[in-house]
Amino acid sequence: MNKIYAIANQKGGVGKTTTCVNLAASLVAIKKRVLLIDIDPQGNATMGSGVNKSDVPLSIYDVLVEDCLIADAQQLSPSGNFSVIAANDDLTAAEVQLLDLPEKQFRLRNALAVVKDQYDYILIDCPPSLNMLTLNALAACDGVIIPMQCEYYSLEGISALMKTINQIQQQLNPSLSIEGIVRTMYDPRSTLTNDVSDQLKEYFGDKLYQTCIPRNVRLAEAPSFGQPALIYDRQSKGAIAYLALAGEFVRRSERAQKHV
Ligand SMILES: Nc1ncnc2c1ncn2[C@@H]1O[C@H](COP(=O)(O)OP(=O)(O)OP(=O)(O)O)[C@@H](O)[C@H]1O
Ligand SMILES: [Mg+2]
Repeated sequence: MNKIYAIANQKGGVGKTTTCVNLAASLVAIKKRVLLIDIDPQGNATMGSGVNKSDVPLSIYDVLVEDCLIADAQQLSPSGNFSVIAANDDLTAAEVQLLDLPEKQFRLRNALAVVKDQYDYILIDCPPSLNMLTLNALAACDGVIIPMQCEYYSLEGISALMKTINQIQQQLNPSLSIEGIVRTMYDPRSTLTNDVSDQLKEYFGDKLYQTCIPRNVRLAEAPSFGQPALIYDRQSKGAIAYLALAGEFVRRSERAQKHV
């Protein structure tokens, strides 16, 4: 398996980065080779993986704008044991600089083509917007994983994301599809959560992962130690849920591969 997935939702704070870092660590735990690409100038996935975003010789900025090789920019997450391409504030400038560069939407795809077969899974943590950086991720990937919180405004904005995915599929990346929807910060005791969860089932059918990620304080604490929850507290509900998600994710992704 050599697959690239973008973790995207233009809504902020829905658990994209938490999912990216913890899925990466859980995939390593089941012996997969993983590369995490941070393309959010906030650099949260970088820090959450234990890499200091302010102290990296080369970052995703250099890959996208300066034609630096992925192999030269990658670091090893000391806590998660996966490879990381870091992001930091430099990347804010890239959004504008990319507009003047050739193949502006394909810079990430071109860079990843060289290393794709060295990894089982490449996960891209997107920023909370549909900008040129997210476009690069969607043009480069085989599928999109959409984390969603089961709350009132969750479905708002989803049609914009679907429209973007459809447009990119038609214009830039014919093989693009939604890989799966992950329910995050899930509270099964809440009526609202259950109502929204039912709506998601209706809307997305079997694209919705059965595994729900519960609201769990360990998941929120772990990034401040630069660790995935699996390393910070492997018994925590959050760590266990992401391990379960990784299992379901791999089964789905491998099944899809067989049917190609
Ligand atoms: N399952 C969870 N339980 C508890 N806290 C969580 C959970 N998932 C995420 N969080 C916390 O919620 C906040 C937002 O999560 P996260 O940073 O993963 O979202 P995001 O979608 O990447 O945000 P942004 O849009 O800013 O990139 C963080 O403080 C994170 O630690
Ligand atoms: Mg994030």
